[in-house]
Amino acid sequence: MSSTLDDQSVYPISAEAARQLARPLFGHVIDGAVVPSLDGSTMAVIDPATERHVATAAAGSAVDAERAARSARAAFDDGRWRFLPPLEKERRMRRLASLLAERADVFAEIDVIDSGLPRFYEGFIVQFAVDGIDYYAGWPSKLAGAIPAVPSDLVVYQHREPIGAIGLITPWNGPTAVFAAVAAAISAGNSVVLKPAEQTPMSAVLMAELALEAGIPPGVFNVVQGVGEVVGAALVTSANIDAVSFTGSVATGSAIQAAAAARVKRVSLELGGKSPFIVFPDADLEAAAAAAMAGVWGASGQVCTAGSRLLVHRSVHDTLVSMIIDGSRDIQLGSGFDPSSQLGPLVSAEQLERVRRYVGYGRDEGAELVLGGERHGDVGYFHQPTVFTSVRNDMRIAREEIFGPVMSVLEFGSEEEAIAIANDTEYGLAAGVWTNDLGLAHRTSRALRAGTVWVNTYQMVYPTVPYGGVKNSGHGRSLGAASLDDFTEIKSVWMKVGG
Ligand code: NAI
Ligand code: MG
Repeated sequence: MSSTLDDQSVYPISAEAARQLARPLFGHVIDGAVVPSLDGSTMAVIDPATERHVATAAAGSAVDAERAARSARAAFDDGRWRFLPPLEKERRMRRLASLLAERADVFAEIDVIDSGLPRFYEGFIVQFAVDGIDYYAGWPSKLAGAIPAVPSDLVVYQHREPIGAIGLITPWNGPTAVFAAVAAAISAGNSVVLKPAEQTPMSAVLMAELALEAGIPPGVFNVVQGVGEVVGAALVTSANIDAVSFTGSVATGSAIQAAAAARVKRVSLELGGKSPFIVFPDADLEAAAAAAMAGVWGASGQVCTAGSRLLVHRSVHDTLVSMIIDGSRDIQLGSGFDPSSQLGPLVSAEQLERVRRYVGYGRDEGAELVLGGERHGDVGYFHQPTVFTSVRNDMRIAREEIFGPVMSVLEFGSEEEAIAIANDTEYGLAAGVWTNDLGLAHRTSRALRAGTVWVNTYQMVYPTVPYGGVKNSGHGRSLGAASLDDFTEIKSVWMKVGG
């Protein structure tokens, strides 16, 4: 493993991205204006590849969160967005998708600096957002109610209505991707307060400004910056927020659901996983090895669907592990802007520390470290791609989400054993199955308790396909038409017509 990180004082970015980065403050966006915290508090924006303080963001208080919530509430209540004709909403949302496509580089470059993710990876993230907005732009004219069958002296019709003001609380891994969720919420006529992760505050401001430029009225898409325990928590309990959509850790998701219960508030949760990646003996091992590496080294493992538990049949274990070690040994770690770097840093010093702690647990619990295991370099939060074999499913590195470049390899001897190990987890977000046996593929897909199963591929997403978890991976679905269920209510209107 070699480092390609230079001491860059100037980023190789577009003039527009440089202009954005030079903003004095990445503030809150409330009722269409970018504003500082009421008390003036700020927080540093750190580039995780260089540990440099590159920009400053507002650090909100509960008062700022409430200002944003009131703005979303007012925009909803006066109907400035939800009562626009459906085709007009669609036109403006399509404009938003086009504007983002035009400025894809700016968003990708800002996210690379904020999150450390490689530039090529950010290309996919921004394209995902463009696709998501384009997809949801088609929904305002298609969301329709229903007329249920009732006795003949009555007419009943159902409206499908927006919920109101939605609090959207999001993590750091692919900041601009969140734009797809904002699009889903507003396509149904809701307004939004986005609370981006405090590690990656920058692109949220650009997103809200882009929405204004596209003609989404002020107040429909607000942003509040700050730490989760302060501004996130304030949104969850605010009387002006009708529902919360959260992506992040199980602990925080569970706390949010408990806090939201006080106001009987709807919550949807996407809480990560410990996804099994199951390789049966007849699988195409080369394809499986490549996907296994991409599935856990991608974004340095900071992906909810990371295939962090590799379950391999005993008969192909040694071959597959050798292929993975050979393919991973020379991975280049470095700045997201260096075209030769394949793996970026973790998002923060805290996250690097977490990964190091888990590598320690793996060693202490008797797993065999066969690749990596160390921090990479002295500057930036880089960690080597790390592989443990001889992992038992009761070890912490098999049970807990690490959110780093750590692969835990477990062996199995039969189909039943593979499924038993795969399902023996508190999580249920995703799973991968590698086999050319059609019956085995279908049986396994049915038996796995997960929101998504990928067969002979991994980590595919498309805006039409629902995405979400079972068990402690949460509830509710993002993407697809299913996401609109999380963002709408049904109202039934009864009328007595006689006869
Ligand atoms: P987190 O779940 O605490 O934070 C996610 C978002 O929730 C952030 O915007 C944060 O500001 C906000 N938040 C935090 N506490 C809150 C509260 N009490 N009320 C409302 N909002 C709150 O995750 P964190 O602390 O960034 O990372 C800790 C671990 O969680 C990671 O190491 C990783 O294992 C896991 N994680 C998993 C993610 C996933 O998508 N699966 C995403 C982020 C973190
Ligand atoms: Mg936290």
